[in-house]
Formats: sequence, C-alpha cells, structure tokens
Amino acid sequence: MNPVTFNCTVLRDGHQSLAATRMKTADMLPIAPILDSMGFSALETWGGATIDAGLRFLKEWPFDRLDALKKAAPKTPHMMLLRGQNIVGYTNYADDVVEAFVAMSAKHGMNIFRIFDCVNDPRNMETSIRAAKKAGAQAHGTICYTTSPVHTTQTFVDMGRELADMGADAIVIKDMAGLLKPYTCYDLVKELKETVKIPVDIHSHYTAGLASMSILKGIEAGADIIDTAMSPLSLGTSHMPTESLVAALQGTDYDTGLDLKQLNVVRAYFAKLREKYIANGQISPKSLGVDANTLLYQVPGGMLSNFRTQLKEQGMEDKFEEVFAEIPVVRKALGWIPLVTPTSQIVGVQAMLNVKFGRWKNITPQAADIALGYYGRTSAPVDPEVQKLCAEKMGKEPITCRPADLIKPGMEDLRRKLAEKGLPTDDEHCVIYAMFPQQVEDFYKKPEPKEEAPVQVNTAPAAAPAAAPSMTVIDNGITARVSGPSGSRDLTIVINGQSHSVKVERIG
Ligand code: CO
Repeated sequence: MNPVTFNCTVLRDGHQSLAATRMKTADMLPIAPILDSMGFSALETWGGATIDAGLRFLKEWPFDRLDALKKAAPKTPHMMLLRGQNIVGYTNYADDVVEAFVAMSAKHGMNIFRIFDCVNDPRNMETSIRAAKKAGAQAHGTICYTTSPVHTTQTFVDMGRELADMGADAIVIKDMAGLLKPYTCYDLVKELKETVKIPVDIHSHYTAGLASMSILKGIEAGADIIDTAMSPLSLGTSHMPTESLVAALQGTDYDTGLDLKQLNVVRAYFAKLREKYIANGQISPKSLGVDANTLLYQVPGGMLSNFRTQLKEQGMEDKFEEVFAEIPVVRKALGWIPLVTPTSQIVGVQAMLNVKFGRWKNITPQAADIALGYYGRTSAPVDPEVQKLCAEKMGKEPITCRPADLIKPGMEDLRRKLAEKGLPTDDEHCVIYAMFPQQVEDFYKKPEPKEEAPVQVNTAPAAAPAAAPSMTVIDNGITARVSGPSGSRDLTIVINGQSHSVKVERIG
C-alpha cells in the first residue's frame, strides 16, 4: 500500500484562485470543524495573498483569522504559503523580519510553512526554512515549476536536493500556471523520489486542463501528498476536485481513506458559497473553464486575465498578442525566471512597457533589480546588455550574493515607526507593517466593517420631519447618515474618517 494524502486548499488557494481571495473568516468558521474531521494531511488556511487581501478588502487582522481557524480546526495541521525572503509581500525583507514573521505565525499555530522563492533561488528560502524548524514547525521546500530552454527535469531535481539538504521536511512541485504535463510530472516525481528521502507533494493548478492527468501520473511515480480543492472551488484556475481524486484512487494501492459521503457535507457548504460568489461577481465565469492559451503563452492564468484588464486601461487592447510575444523576450533577458508572484507582475509590466515605448527604453525599478541580482540568482545569466542598462538607470552595481545579506535588520526601525504613529509595537504588528504599512494604518483608522447590508434607496417621504439619523453602511468604511425633512435627504458620507456633506433632492 502506498496511500496518498490530501492537503485541502479550499480555505486559501481555492478562493485565492477563483474568488479573488475574498473569502471571509466568517464564511470559513462554520465549516472548519467539519473540514478538521475529514482526515486531510493539512488544511491550507493562511498566507499567499490572503494577508494582503484580508487587510485591504476585508479589514481583517491576519493573525485573528489564524487564531479563529486554529480554534475551530485544532486537529489537522495548518499550512501556509510563504514567499521565502519576500514573506507574503513583493520584495526581499531583512532576516530578522522574516524570522519574526515565522516565529509569530508558529506561535499563532501555523504548523507547515510551504516556502518558495520567485526566482527559485534556494538562498532566499534558507532563513525561513531555518526559522520554521526552529519554531518546531515543518518547512516544505517548494520548487516553482516553469518551462524554458534552460529548465529540465534535472534542474528541478537539483533544486529539490538542495532544499532537502537545507532541512526541508518535504518537497513541493508548485505548478502555479498548470503547465506541468503528465509524463513530465511522472519523470520529475520519480527522479525526485530517487534523489530525496522526504515526501513529495504536487500542487498543480487546473488552468490548462492538465492537472488531473499530471497528478495521476505523479501518484504512479510515487508522489506522497496532493493538493486538491473541494469541488465547488475547484477546476479553472484552481485545483483538481478533491472528491474526484478520492473516487479515482478508491480500492487501489493509493486509496486515500477519505470518505466521499462525509466530504459531501463539506461540498454542500461550499456549493452555497460558490453561488454567493458567482452572484456578487467575485467568481468570474472566465476563470472556471480551461484556458488553453496558457499552454501557448506559458504564463499563469491569473496573469492573462489581469493583463487583459491592464491593457484595456492603458488603451492597448489591440496590443495583446504583441505584449504576450514580448513576455519570453523579457524572461530570457532576465535569466528565464519563473512567472509567479511577484515576478509574473514584474515581467508582465515590463513586456507592456517594451511594446509601448520600445524595447528596454523604459525599465521599471523592479525589473532592473531582477537584472542586477537583487531578487536573487536567476535560472540562467541575465542579458549583459540589459544588465548594463539597468545598472546605469538605477545607479547601482549588479550583485551575486544572497540579496538579504545587504539588508540591515529591520525590526527596531519598524517598532519605532509604529510607536511614532501610536500603533501597537509588538512583533506581530512589526512584521505586518513591514509589508503593508498603508493597510495597517488604514486598518486602525477605519471603523469595523458592519454587516453586509444592501444599500437601500428609500423613496417614501419620511414620517416625521426630524427623524433620528439612520446609518447605512455602503461599503467597507463608508457610512452614510440620512436625515432631513421629507422630500430631500442630507447625506453625510464618511470616507477614511473624513465627512462629506451631500444633499440628495427628489426629482419629480
Ligand atoms: Co497555488
């Protein structure tokens, strides 16, 4: 018997991939105890974009979500996605900030840190792997799977060995774009299993329609752990459905032991949430199907859809094909880096600028930093001409050391800044403030989000001339006080704590 185990991604990657990371803690808590009893090897509950999106759009304090979920689901290990030295932000942070973040997360109950680096430089994962182990948690070393003329099965196997040598407790193949093909997956898992003595996990997105085939071949090659999403938040840009894979493996040597009848309780819950997200537009029908363009362009599905929107905003809709043809040009010049947060955005924007202003006429500081080694060692050498241009533009020299070696410790400075603003100065606030200063300030400025009350337009005349002001929450942090005699409405709209008076007249 070689049973495989499943990590349930529905509370993190499932809604990050399909519902713009908008699932609220309140929507997770009712089902968390039941998910906890299913027998998953881990529940992915935190990290990735959930911290940024939670603060920005849901006004949730990140550690509060972790505490609440941990309390509701105490048995199954909790797992989070960590971007190595980028933590859950978009640039490299000082070692002491990374260490404090990992220590705080472990203290709040995080059990498994799934650690990757956006340029696949294991040196950027060293500090977080060490910190996770020190905190008594597991560190899963993650390989960002990508395709390019310089990437072979051997490249990834070598990286897997390096991560295992660093002390990783498992190796994850992170196929964020869904580009991993079945037979490649078979070879990759087989060679990894022959090379490392730790479990191998497949995290494959469904975007290109390949994931279920690749996962099955990966299981045959000896994969130990598979990431799946409950069916209502599966497929499209998310993962393959949990229930289908449970059924596929039933009665085989790989039988997961998960119970389809019990899973159905979970499915029914998320089916209702899915309806809600479709109705409020958070799930776009576009993200649900197979995007065969990803096979052609070799880029993550999310990047394609973001890009169409950005090009539209720039009045460059007609340049879609041209910009996409530019992506491999930019990737090649920048050493064939994988396309994952944040490199996908950086490469995408640079491709757009190259088309708009001419190749390398206008270089973003982030693209320049990649070219100069400030994101880490790239898979292939950077184009020397482009590197020279970037050095001139940025007025700094290329580096080859581990980038964080050049970053001064940050915690004391963060504490001082928080104190100056009258905000809490504990480690928890420091690490979140390091990545999202504006969001943290806004979080303490804005009122708590109220119940989701629909905006009601009351056209009936008020019964009494001086009715007590009523308050309607229009959106997070925007409130409207309604008062005044019948026939007109004086509204006070409060945005970011500032009052704006608006008079609404009845017409006709
Ligand atoms: Co993912």
